[in-house]
Amino acid sequence: MMTDELLRSQLPHTLRQIDLPGLGDLYRGKVRDNYSRGDRIVMITTDRVSAFDHVLGTIPFKGEVLSRLAAFWFEKVKDLAPTHLLDQPDPSVMVVKRAKALPIEIVIRGYITGSLWRDYQGGKTDAYGIAWPKGLKKDQALEQAVITPSTKAEYGKHDEPISEAELLRQGLVSPQLWSEATAIARKLFQRGQEWARSRGLILVDTKYEMGTVDGKLVVIDEIHTPDSSRYWVADGYEARLAKGAEQEMLDKENIRQWLIQEHGFSGQGKPPPLTDDVRVMLARKYIEVYERLTGERFVSTVGSVEERIKRNLAAKGYLGQR
Ligand SMILES: Nc1ncnc2c1ncn2[C@@H]1O[C@H](COP(=O)(O)OP(=O)(O)OP(=O)(O)O)[C@@H](O)[C@H]1O
Ligand SMILES: [Mg+2]
Repeated sequence: MMTDELLRSQLPHTLRQIDLPGLGDLYRGKVRDNYSRGDRIVMITTDRVSAFDHVLGTIPFKGEVLSRLAAFWFEKVKDLAPTHLLDQPDPSVMVVKRAKALPIEIVIRGYITGSLWRDYQGGKTDAYGIAWPKGLKKDQALEQAVITPSTKAEYGKHDEPISEAELLRQGLVSPQLWSEATAIARKLFQRGQEWARSRGLILVDTKYEMGTVDGKLVVIDEIHTPDSSRYWVADGYEARLAKGAEQEMLDKENIRQWLIQEHGFSGQGKPPPLTDDVRVMLARKYIEVYERLTGERFVSTVGSVEERIKRNLAAKGYLGQR
């Protein structure tokens, strides 16, 4: 694991955004700067971190960890479904096939926790359109993974759960495509859970985005990263569950907890600035997930991410005329 000193020295070099108009039309998401031209997108994962739909700041090496992990997972599941990944010219960059994205995020959960737990406890599960058994305990494993789709909201708005019946009624996805998409999601999730387990982690839940290319389903965006998934440490899970203690989380939940506990912030108003200490703490969590899942040390160099990306894109011919 990189030392805190090394992580700290990367603080001034993190990537907030990158301007490369020559790459095509820019769509700046919360985390990625996406340049599209024709049928491909150059997706640059910046070091931005978002929580409760606000961009809060940057975390050292986050873009690289996410992009490398997404590529790692795409490779691991490529026998299950076509993915959008074409090329990785830089550790923070994925060149992908542009798809027509489904307007729905496919959330799949193996455990009851987070927003689902809050809704379940508050008796607000109607929107999910699922009959939940009574007497579930926070963080307990569900008998079978459940899919709880959510709408894909525009910037600044919150994604909302939507039932399968409702999304089909609204014609957001055709029944045929939906059944294909959910079948793929189940297979991906099973593969993800198995792999995570073999590496001492629990893949608790995750979110998939899918799209179509020439009418065929493709897995897009990122998969099984600590931004799109919850990961818990497997060791001690049962004991913590029995005691009613918090699980050991290695995902974005850490920043949500910091915001709520230290600053009483849960999405309303202006988010507090991230301190350098919390930025380093979060970098450590991201790198820990990477190292556990891949079984490899995370190695990178301190210095400008922007310069490195530009160098790599230029060397691989992405910045020239086409
Ligand atoms: N292959 C693809 N084809 C088309 N769109 C894609 C593809 N892969 C990812 N996307 C979209 O590109 C964007 C990636 O940027 P990012 O993840 O930062 O956005 P986001 O903040 O999560 O989403 P948004 O702001 O759009 O709600 C997302 O809107 C995602 O849906
Ligand atoms: Mg996203």
